[in-house]
Amino acid sequence: MKVIILAGGGGTRLFPLSRKCLPKQFLKLDNKDSLLTRTVQRFLEIVKPNDIVVVTNEAYFFHVKSELIACGAEKAHILLEPAARNTAPAIGLAVRYCMDLLDVPPTEALFVTPADHVIEPQATFKAAVRHSAEMAEKGYIVTFGILPDKPETGYGYIQAGEPCQYGFRVDSFREKPDLATAESYLAAGNYYWNSGMFVFTLNCIMEELQRHQPAIYNLLAAGWEEVIDRFDEMPKISIDYAVAEKSDKVITIPFTGYWNDIGSWDSIYDILPKDEQGNGLQGDCLPIDCTNSLLLGRSRLIAGIGLEDVLVVETDDVILVAKKGESQKVKDLVETLKIQG
Ligand code: GDD
Ligand code: MG
Repeated sequence: MKVIILAGGGGTRLFPLSRKCLPKQFLKLDNKDSLLTRTVQRFLEIVKPNDIVVVTNEAYFFHVKSELIACGAEKAHILLEPAARNTAPAIGLAVRYCMDLLDVPPTEALFVTPADHVIEPQATFKAAVRHSAEMAEKGYIVTFGILPDKPETGYGYIQAGEPCQYGFRVDSFREKPDLATAESYLAAGNYYWNSGMFVFTLNCIMEELQRHQPAIYNLLAAGWEEVIDRFDEMPKISIDYAVAEKSDKVITIPFTGYWNDIGSWDSIYDILPKDEQGNGLQGDCLPIDCTNSLLLGRSRLIAGIGLEDVLVVETDDVILVAKKGESQKVKDLVETLKIQG
């Protein structure tokens, strides 16, 4: 099995800590290991370092390189995409790389994973990976289903159909539905969130790209040099819309461990250890009569009095103060800042 780690996204949902220059995959939530490092470590227990391909772009090269060296994975491959075209082209490039430069057999499983999630415990994850590789080698595109507990509109939704080994055939896959649709999926009960990981063989993904994304397939089929030279002609589309929504080979294995895509400050609060008053504290903090709040400082003391359900994130140039439960609106904030230049 080869592991393709997608680490080229420039997400800003954790503004002001994550920016274009420091997206989520490089954040060190426990002040120790970044999410990318934790992702690499998760797979180092399953494959050899040189079975790992990290797909990213030039801007993040040294960042990725130093993290790989620090976690003993200097032999992992770093694949630099010539332009950011979203995940379907990034995965296509990695697939071509595996074919041409790593001589990966067409029937070997490729495990594609985001670089910015928290997944635990390792034993549950390892078993799920083993099962997924087995099913991928039978010709399926394997996803991991997460039991939804709210109508989150930032995820893909998987409609579980007939049972199959380790999970279910997927009747439909819908990426980022609107709120009303997400609510109807939750009410229906037979839907999972898509965790963002995909497992398939080279044969399978090339066939599905040929069938559903001929523009991507034709560029890939032209060979390695051509793909690199003409990468900016790739359509900008994620693998979810490009393949998962269209293919009839998708199955899902329910993931029974803990999964969090850390898409907001609320979810950071959820995963941090708490003091007796339910406060998540990081950095130099002095909370007095504060409850259920997040105080996260980088360089200055954060002193809070009487705060309840408040999120405070301090960086050199910005201090974010938000009401708990409303941190999804950070993306509106970032948009406003962009508009104001
Ligand atoms: N190399 C590279 N190039 N990586 C990319 C690019 C790109 O152009 N765009 C995104 N990535 C990386 C991100 O860094 C992240 O690790 C991963 O690909 C997924 O991209 P996101 O942009 O974070 O996707 P999403 O969160 O909106 O949606 C996906 O994940 C959800 C779960 O968190 C989908 O798969 C959803 O269906 C899923 O529910
Ligand atoms: Mg994401």
